[in-house]
Amino acid sequence: MALLNIIKKGDETLSKICKPVTAITPRIITLLDDMRETLLDSEGVGLAAPQVGILRRIALVIDTNDNDRIYELINPEIIAAEGEQEGMEGCLSVPGEWGINRRPMKVTVKATDRNGNEFTVTGEGLTARCFCHELDHLDGKLFCEVAERMLTKEEIEELMG
Ligand code: NI
Repeated sequence: MALLNIIKKGDETLSKICKPVTAITPRIITLLDDMRETLLDSEGVGLAAPQVGILRRIALVIDTNDNDRIYELINPEIIAAEGEQEGMEGCLSVPGEWGINRRPMKVTVKATDRNGNEFTVTGEGLTARCFCHELDHLDGKLFCEVAERMLTKEEIEELMG
């Protein structure tokens, strides 16, 4: 396994639309393992393949409501969403910036796992927010581009205290 470099805002890779995974090759498995290690080494709760320079529809999400289990999502799609929440969001690719985003309160995602099996998973609260945030990455969208508003320097300083 290896720690991968996380690409930062301003790199055009982050604005590209990712291609579906058509076969789960040993390279994809290695990518999943490396993304897992990279995510666990970071302060984040999610990581999408374009953030490590790979334009494929793969994302990892840590479910903080369920003992920090990690969902590996290959070709994920949101198949149901309900409710609404407004809250703070940040991104490993946008260090030092935070914004207020409106997201569904509950989201169900359909995806393929590393064994090629399709599964669905439902997340609420932060996990629902994370599913939306990571899936946006696969379509070249950063949270700061869909934010209601970004926090000011003063607000961030106050929060970080
Ligand atoms: Ni992000």
